[in-house]
Amino acid sequence: MKIKVGTVILSAGAGTRMNMDLPKPLAPFLGKRLIDFPLAESLKMMNQLGSNSFVGLVTGHGKEHVEKYVNENYKDVDLKYAFQKEQLGTAHALRCYFDQIKEAKSCEYTLVLCADTPLIESESLHKLYKELEDNDLDGVAATFHEENPTGYGRIIRSVDCGFHIVEEKDANEEQRKISEVNSGMYVLKTSFILEHLYSIDSENQAGEFYLTDLFKDDYKVKPLLFSEKSSFAGVNNLEQLEKSEITMRKRILITLREMGVRFVDSRHTYVDSQNIGKGTFIHPNVSIDHLSVIGENVTLEPGCIIINSKIENGVTVKAYSHLEEVVLHSNCSVGPYARLRPGTDIGSESKIGNFVEIKKSKLDRGVKVSHLSYVGDAEIGEETNIGCGFITCNYDGANKHKTIIGKNSFIGSDSQMVAPISVGDNCFVASGSTITQSMNDGSFAVSRTKQVTKEGLAKRFLKSK
Ligand code: UD1
Ligand code: MG
Repeated sequence: MKIKVGTVILSAGAGTRMNMDLPKPLAPFLGKRLIDFPLAESLKMMNQLGSNSFVGLVTGHGKEHVEKYVNENYKDVDLKYAFQKEQLGTAHALRCYFDQIKEAKSCEYTLVLCADTPLIESESLHKLYKELEDNDLDGVAATFHEENPTGYGRIIRSVDCGFHIVEEKDANEEQRKISEVNSGMYVLKTSFILEHLYSIDSENQAGEFYLTDLFKDDYKVKPLLFSEKSSFAGVNNLEQLEKSEITMRKRILITLREMGVRFVDSRHTYVDSQNIGKGTFIHPNVSIDHLSVIGENVTLEPGCIIINSKIENGVTVKAYSHLEEVVLHSNCSVGPYARLRPGTDIGSESKIGNFVEIKKSKLDRGVKVSHLSYVGDAEIGEETNIGCGFITCNYDGANKHKTIIGKNSFIGSDSQMVAPISVGDNCFVASGSTITQSMNDGSFAVSRTKQVTKEGLAKRFLKSK
């Protein structure tokens, strides 16, 4: 069976204008990488088209890193790679694709995308494809109007049918004023590409083989103007990267609002996750990364940072709390100013108060650690109350050790437990105790020096001050 559509994502460029140590496809974008976005949309389109299509990547600069990242993150997808050793231009990159990927030439259509246009949506790809099929054209390029078109190829429409593209560097003053620009996204008949691709030369200011030279005034090609310009923004420098991220976040916010998520002022909220439940209320300066999953009716107060965490329904995270790789079960409350580190699992109805740090610990239902404590490598049973200023001494300078505390126990303020140690259910530890020996269920422990009181002696010390 003839393959209908081959998609190629051009990702070999060095991205020098980004001024980054990473290859451009791996530039961080909304917690992921730039390449993830055009790749996800083309895979979406591929799924809609059925098994009759595939996606190929042309890699070059930082090839090993780009391919390693893609292979690790798209294990179930059969992606094809072509290598462009020298970055001689976009037409040269496409030649590498056809020369190295054997299925490429046999596709009826070829969809060309750039790795640096993260905002594209599969709907636009479909529109482009439909335009080509319906009008039996040889090629269609997606275009849009840009007030500040600097850096983009300008669209020069011919009076009758075709069009051509002039790159910024080659454009004269009049052409530079044109605001209709090339998105770098095309659908073309493969036979048309193969007929013209290899005769493209590098006679231009950049000395590169421009893919844009595929379009000529007397060819059966058409620019398809999209009104939604933000979908095609190219990312060539850090300003464009930031602007595109802001646009993408706005899209996420709109979807979340439609799903019933409420924001105090979304202009100052940084939400990359799309998994947030109805009735959740998000205050300013909250950051949520794309891996986090937040349930319904959760309140996230100002300044909370939530990284790769799962928060169940009805939880309140009070102001300025920092959560990383944490699970919060339903209706618990955390903060203000709590720091929950990786491996923390807080049971439902539990309460973690201000200036509490918890690491790699499991707290069951209804546990209270209300003030100024450090809990590390611990397990705490349900309904146990931990007093103010409690510390697990979990590190002996070489190794970490566990602290296990049973349920319904009361651990007095300013006490420490020197791990490894285990305290049973229904225990009572008097405040100020340093517990070094394990305790059976129902025990009481106090470990502090006896108080010495000398009547009237205070004045001696007060005077000396
Ligand atoms: C390109 C278009 C321009 C368009 C713009 C849209 C050309 C000549 N110009 O310019 O008309 O307005 O995109 O964003 O095509 N790449 C390779 N190998 C190379 C060179 C580039 O794989 O040798 C890849 C890059 O990694 C990138 C894409 O092709 O993903 C586009 O290259 P870039 O250098 O960003 O081209 P622009 O100057 O943005
Ligand atoms: Mg570009």
